[in-house]
Amino acid sequence: MKKKRNIYLIGFMGVGKTTVSKYLRELTGWEEVDTDKVIVRKKNMGIPEIFEKYGENYFRNLESHILEDYAKKGQRIVSCGGGIILRENNRKLMKKSGTVILLSATPQTIYENVKDGKDRPLLNGNMNPDYIGKMMQERQPYYEKAKDIEIVTDEKAPKDVAFEIIERLQISMAGKEEEA
Ligand code: S3P
Repeated sequence: MKKKRNIYLIGFMGVGKTTVSKYLRELTGWEEVDTDKVIVRKKNMGIPEIFEKYGENYFRNLESHILEDYAKKGQRIVSCGGGIILRENNRKLMKKSGTVILLSATPQTIYENVKDGKDRPLLNGNMNPDYIGKMMQERQPYYEKAKDIEIVTDEKAPKDVAFEIIERLQISMAGKEEEA
């Protein structure tokens, strides 16, 4: 039997990927993985510590390796760290092995979600909507290239976002069958 393709959740830090992926797990019965959590478990270190001690590139290499592992497996919901889209190889791998769902929100919504956290080294010292907005703009071309489907999440409950994803996936899959 053909292995089912992964569902990849991408989007800026704090957009709600982790929470939405838990609802998707309930709705699909698929296993759920969070690339950040796998890194923390493997290295037995927090993300800020990894950035501080080994640098961002080292973190990105770990992230890419984890993605490679799960791309081979299939039938999983993969909640990705916000920067996974920066590498072309990662984008290609996700597209090839699954459907990529971009969750998006305004800088203000993102700010409200991340402002009390301390575990995002790229925002530490720059925790404000302006900086978040600029970083989002810089990354926007990569999110655009990576995505198959985009869901705007502002003012939506994570559970409703998960339902919307399932609905959109069904429509997109039906479209592909018609094309075939
Ligand atoms: C990052 C996002 C974080 C984490 C790391 C870097 C990024 O994950 O991978 O701090 O570059 O956007 P979340 O998107 O889950 O916060």
